[in-house]
Amino acid sequence: MAGQGEGQRPATRALDGGLRPDPVTGAIAPGISMSVNNLFVPGEAGFSAEGADLTQQPFLYARWTNPTVRDLERRLAALEGAEDAMAAATGVGAIAAVFLGLLKAGDHLIVSDVCYAGAFELATRVLTDLGIAVTPVNLSDLAAAEAAIRPETRLIHAETPCNPILRLTDLAALSALAHARGVLVSVDSTLATPVITRPLEHGVDLVIHSLTKFMNGHGDALGGAVIGRRELVSAIRSRAGVYLGATLSAQNAWLILRGLDTLFPRIRTACATAGVLARHLQGHPGVSAVCWPGLESHPQRALVVRQMDLPGAMVTFQCPDAPVVARRMAERFRTIHYAFSLGHQRSLCVLIGTEEIQASTYRMEGAALADWRAWAGEGVFRLSVGLEDPEDLIEDLDRALAP
Ligand SMILES: Cc1ncc(COP(=O)(O)O)c(C=O)c1O
Repeated sequence: MAGQGEGQRPATRALDGGLRPDPVTGAIAPGISMSVNNLFVPGEAGFSAEGADLTQQPFLYARWTNPTVRDLERRLAALEGAEDAMAAATGVGAIAAVFLGLLKAGDHLIVSDVCYAGAFELATRVLTDLGIAVTPVNLSDLAAAEAAIRPETRLIHAETPCNPILRLTDLAALSALAHARGVLVSVDSTLATPVITRPLEHGVDLVIHSLTKFMNGHGDALGGAVIGRRELVSAIRSRAGVYLGATLSAQNAWLILRGLDTLFPRIRTACATAGVLARHLQGHPGVSAVCWPGLESHPQRALVVRQMDLPGAMVTFQCPDAPVVARRMAERFRTIHYAFSLGHQRSLCVLIGTEEIQASTYRMEGAALADWRAWAGEGVFRLSVGLEDPEDLIEDLDRALAP
């Protein structure tokens, strides 16, 4: 029967995985179930002569899950080759569910010293207030990761490629060393998407996505997800998903399902355009450095080839007098939007200044700060490549980079 995703290749699973035609109407496109609650079904799990454990019913109350959200969860699980998935209202909601679902006071978390700012601040400011010890570590340095593991370490949270500097973590090697010490590994795979890397195939325990970005891909819905083994996802759902209340709305689940239909062609097109732009910027007199995993100059090329099926749709570059260039971009861009966020169908570009982000978020010193500077200098323009004609994007960049 169509819709289970089994035996299908990933690009087909993006359309079909977990989708079941409506058993009543035969409708192929998923509908939206807006109902907050569902009737108890005698004969279904959790309803017996002895009594009712209503939490075993397939649909109970929409804060647990609802049919449309469940369609999305099944599709995400199929895409990542996982047993189960839990959707959340935002990417940060998914990250918070993982942290608070798995960790308790006295536990230790190792977090990538560069990862999405909101995740980093949640770990280093909020979790620490709850009695959870947190150590930021450069997870591209496996010896450093291993040295940071303590008896009470429960989780290592990685992000690859990491936002904003596009540094990679070797997921297979990190998972092997973590598992040898009984530690779980979660990875934020928002910048990769399952088109590029399927972290569970590399041994990771949990994949996290901000669905707001490439997965939905249209800049019109917030969402997040945690994907992995059933037992882990269920524990996170019942301990954190339900009580944090960061539940995805059915309407956004439907929008994201629709976005996923075109995930593969969108990512393939955006990656190809990113290559055109990265090479153009590399030769541009107004640009001092370019980072894109597809360039030979990326410092982790061997890992890129091993772990990424495509080089990604994010490019960073550095310019002298970056704040002046940033203002010119905001004034002169006609196609690209000078704005935060990433992974939308429209190209987005923003300056992430080293001084600003270090003061607000990472607060690095010594070797960690030196490593950041090796990737980002005094700041990077983070370009999220969309689906426009590459020539229009080149014209826009040239216009903004001209004196
Ligand atoms: C890598 C990564 N993870 C998580 C998030 C948070 O996503 P959301 O805004 O959906 O909470 C972002 C947002 O930029 C991100 O870039």
